[in-house]
Amino acid sequence: MQSEYQHLIDLSDYPVSWWRKVVELGEEIKRDPKRFAHECDGKVMATLFYEPSTRTQMSFQTAMIRLGGQIIGFDNPANSSVSKGETIKDTTKIVSSYADILVIRHPIAGAAKAASLTADCSVINAGDGGHLHPTQTLTDLLTLKIEKKSLSGLTIGMCGDLINGRTVHSLCKALSMFEDNKFVFISTPELRMPAYIKDIIKANGSTYEEVDTLEEAISRLDVLYMTRIQQERFASEEEYLAQKNTYVLDRKKMQLASKDMIVMHPLPRVDEITVDVDDDPRAMYFTQAKYGVFARMALILTMLRDKKPSETLRGKVYPGVSCGNPRCITNHEHYLPKSFRSSRDETLLECEYCDERKLI
Ligand code: NCD
Repeated sequence: MQSEYQHLIDLSDYPVSWWRKVVELGEEIKRDPKRFAHECDGKVMATLFYEPSTRTQMSFQTAMIRLGGQIIGFDNPANSSVSKGETIKDTTKIVSSYADILVIRHPIAGAAKAASLTADCSVINAGDGGHLHPTQTLTDLLTLKIEKKSLSGLTIGMCGDLINGRTVHSLCKALSMFEDNKFVFISTPELRMPAYIKDIIKANGSTYEEVDTLEEAISRLDVLYMTRIQQERFASEEEYLAQKNTYVLDRKKMQLASKDMIVMHPLPRVDEITVDVDDDPRAMYFTQAKYGVFARMALILTMLRDKKPSETLRGKVYPGVSCGNPRCITNHEHYLPKSFRSSRDETLLECEYCDERKLI
């Protein structure tokens, strides 16, 4: 299924050369933002935020304003027709006829993909449940390019809620496409990186290992990417409390790290990094959030300039087969075609919206 517009649902929709170009444009904008101040004069961006956000929403809005464009949208669906039961399809159809570019964040996996099926403008995924967060990844790539001078040959530790953290899913998919990157996943057994991400890493020729403590990994890392335990994605308070406070990066642990290691975090921070780490020159999370504006300016410009149509659904509908993930958009918005990618012998299906696998 082809859309007339260019969308960004997952970074893997584009070749590495495309991301490199967006990152390079981000660097150029950072050097001289004023040069781009009128690039989006007369353009409108809509931000549909069905889930709380500070940085992603405001950095997108700032990015568009700094490019000369205007913004519309909501950050509380209770104040929109969503509260009256409007579907993503209808909201998207209407808002995309008002705007040139639509940015959507939603608590359910695959929601941005669903929006791209009916939108009459470009759609950008600003986070879909615990699934993906490609624009945070662009921000992270820009940060690495500026601060580590390379996107290859890095040992990256990812720590915390690796099962529910959409930022680390997208970042693994992206960094494994560059040469010679190694991943060290630091989590409890309950919060390990999903199998499908580990398979992508292997298929891309990168390597990973899994450890239980920060102490056994930190001294070997070029980058430590900390994440928050995603309370809102746990089935019960009890399960969340069992994981809370397991990993806390403090000054003492920072002494074990190399002097060149940088600490990244998509933010918000809860208690996984103590505030006394903030003054350490290796703490890069506030700078990273600042770079998010340049990354998003580069992305908006690229999407509006290129206008290459996107392929939205590439898979197949299998009569009677639906996705087994209760947090997949196809189990919430029932008009959506339940489309799956398949293994060659069609015994393994992968939902095209949320990547959940199913044996048939
Ligand atoms: C992240 C998100 O929303 O996934 N935040 C962000 O976009 N900067 C991380 C998080 O909420 O923990």
